[in-house]
Amino acid sequence: LLSFCFSLLLGSCDDFLSVKENSSSSPFPSNFLFGTAASSYQFEGAYLTDGKGLSNWDVFTHKPGTIMDGSNGDVAVDHYHRYQEDVNLMNHIGVNSYRFSLSWARILPKGRFGKVNLAGIHFYNCLIDALLNKGIEPFVTLSHYDIPQELEDRYEGWLSHEIQEDFRYYVDICFKNFGERVKYWVTLNEPNVASIRGYRTGIWPPSRCSAAFGNCTNGGDSEREPFIVAYNLLLSHATAVDLYRTKYQKNQGGRIGVVMNTVWYEPISNSSEDKLAAERAQSFYMNWFLDPIILGEYPAEMREILGEDLPAFSRNDMEKLKSGLDFIGVNHYTSFFVKDCIFSACETGQGSSRTEGYALISPQINGICIGKPTTLDWLYVHPQGMEKMVTYIQHRYNNIPMFITENGLGTRDSSNSITKEILNDVERVDYLRGYLDSLATAIRKGADVRGYFVWSLLDNFEWSDGCSTRFGLHHVDYTTLNRTPRLSAIWYKNFIALQSSYG
Ligand code: NOJ
Repeated sequence: LLSFCFSLLLGSCDDFLSVKENSSSSPFPSNFLFGTAASSYQFEGAYLTDGKGLSNWDVFTHKPGTIMDGSNGDVAVDHYHRYQEDVNLMNHIGVNSYRFSLSWARILPKGRFGKVNLAGIHFYNCLIDALLNKGIEPFVTLSHYDIPQELEDRYEGWLSHEIQEDFRYYVDICFKNFGERVKYWVTLNEPNVASIRGYRTGIWPPSRCSAAFGNCTNGGDSEREPFIVAYNLLLSHATAVDLYRTKYQKNQGGRIGVVMNTVWYEPISNSSEDKLAAERAQSFYMNWFLDPIILGEYPAEMREILGEDLPAFSRNDMEKLKSGLDFIGVNHYTSFFVKDCIFSACETGQGSSRTEGYALISPQINGICIGKPTTLDWLYVHPQGMEKMVTYIQHRYNNIPMFITENGLGTRDSSNSITKEILNDVERVDYLRGYLDSLATAIRKGADVRGYFVWSLLDNFEWSDGCSTRFGLHHVDYTTLNRTPRLSAIWYKNFIALQSSYG
């Protein structure tokens, strides 16, 4: 640590950038994917260019007061026009994969009720070809929160079972057009987060929630709608996988999975009550989706607590769900303490989660501490959470292959100026090093993890935070759209090079 501090004081980063070799072989298998991740709304911009239709996020961000700094994704980082430059940046880092998402509204501006936008297909063809040209494997998400607004207007989007048919129609077009070249498909990004933020807290489109949760403008029922939406998301996933398996997989030879947001929930004490509460928290967050897809039913805790409020699967649904998945995509950033609120009382303000009976507590309270706070209120640095999370998934789901589809550190910073400090993102380097190290331990102990993606290649539009939160290995100046590598970009390059040097 001392020498690292000195090297910074002296202005030389050489020492810091050297990635320590602590064993003679890399824990990461030789065909491991190292990449960066992105999504259409956060990156592309070009929001009405070349025939793209409006998405739910286009409409939402244009309403005053929805985004912290009043920004939107109309331009974002203009990846639509600068994708070649961005592919070059990736190539420079040395990644062998890029996770990005397709904008449903760019391909089908009106869902299945209108024509295919050929310019949209053309854009993704160009992007995929540019990647392959540099030996970068496309890892493609079909829907990363954004859907055509048309589907909201016609039948209230994910609240309606009709969306399953729209999703089937859309993914069929994607498999047909891109499946010869895309070997990794993700049906949905973080359906747990989309259900909670869109329909429980209402802070994201379509802004639905009960009055007690906030000022949702579009009505809603925070106790029931998240579960209806989850049901439609689950069956949309199953429909897509089923279609891929029956019509494409044999010829195209790719794999398909889902990406979940994961939080490591650490019981706040050793009591069996707090341990059960942590298990409940996991069930109501991640297992909510993975259990039905992999084990065929909702987690026991959810069934017990929610009873009839949990939409039941019909015989037909269960058949569909059996299509399962080929891999689990794990987005992992943070950990929280969990305290029981069923057998013991939770103080108000502890973030109690109503009927589920637990409270989420900052991992740094009253002198007990497992996580270091950051400038983001939901993100605590707890590298061991990575190993624990991966091991938990490994055991619960019988070591199905996993990809860490996102991991990274965001910082609150709304100025565009590039100072030495902004480029010297030592906290981000520390974060990535710690989490990768913890991942390596999980792999050494037997977890079948096949890839890791940093969120993100560039600063980009961070949803409710807009442009004021930055996750990039590269800094983006939103006035010029110039990209400048941070220390973390160079560190990641060295890290990847070291892994491949093991041979
Ligand atoms: C997960 C989401 O998939 C991504 O869109 C978001 O930017 C990151 N988390 C950081 O919050």
